[in-house]
Amino acid sequence: MVPEIAARKHIEFLYKLAQKAFEESKTTPYDIDAIAATYGPGLIGSLLVGTSFAKGMSLSLKVPFIGVNHLVGHIYANFLDFPELKPPFLTLLVSGGHTMLILTKDYLEYEIIGQTRDDAAGEAFDKVARILGLGYPGGPIIEDKAKNGKSIYNFPKPLYDVGYDFSFSGLKTSVLYFVKEHPEAKIEDIAASFQEAITETLVHKVTKYALENNIHEVVIAGGVASNLVLRKKLDEYKDKLNIYYPRLTLCTDNAAMIARAAYEKYQRKLFSKLDLDVCPNLGFSEI
Ligand code: KG4
Ligand code: ZN
Repeated sequence: MVPEIAARKHIEFLYKLAQKAFEESKTTPYDIDAIAATYGPGLIGSLLVGTSFAKGMSLSLKVPFIGVNHLVGHIYANFLDFPELKPPFLTLLVSGGHTMLILTKDYLEYEIIGQTRDDAAGEAFDKVARILGLGYPGGPIIEDKAKNGKSIYNFPKPLYDVGYDFSFSGLKTSVLYFVKEHPEAKIEDIAASFQEAITETLVHKVTKYALENNIHEVVIAGGVASNLVLRKKLDEYKDKLNIYYPRLTLCTDNAAMIARAAYEKYQRKLFSKLDLDVCPNLGFSEI
């Protein structure tokens, strides 16, 4: 990913994308009540393009501008598919940049239960794919390779029974050493074994917290939530927990989830000022 090119591509496509969205939804700019954009976390250039576009529309249409936290957006993706979902619920947010266990106590009220101390889950998939000489993004490719392999290698499950933080950097390094020491090993088996270690760790932590704390609703969000092995493992807890995953297109980054999160702020008149700055390292303290 070259941040400079990503931002320029955003400029190139954003206007056309907005036009297409109005066409497909058979609306015009004059029909909208508010305009939202992600103001962090993320790449600064792309955040600037999105927020500047939204602020421009807000100013010219005289509608409120609402800055949205990208991470909160991932959680709210679930409300698009499950409008009946109500807090409290636990979210496992697993994307390319984040791995977090978040307790949504009430609408727009969150507590971080755990997070990764180094690599995010998606990042681990991406890095292991690179080690194995596969393409990007690594998650779907590893999942695909693993279908023709067996989980026969015992890779570490870091911090498995230690609290609710995650750590995937050591797992990635152990795959790296293993590949160097075992050139004869099949890529498919390594992919399956890695996927087993990482998904088992994720499922163990999220289900343990939910069961120990009497939380019955568990939602999965972020790009890694599209992994079918992860989903299958979670399904084993379906008699004890209600597990929600948004449809695949709502798991990876999308604008609908940002709009849904913004709607929650809109109802409470939590509008942003036009001088709201972008925040590449935005955490959960700011919604
Ligand atoms: O949420 P997302 O689209 O973007 C970020 O906000 O990061 O997540 C992208 C990440 C990538 O690291 C990608 O490898 C991973 O999600 N991913 C998957 C799968 N599909 C996407 N990881 C595992 N299995 C998948 N099927
Ligand atoms: Zn994301």
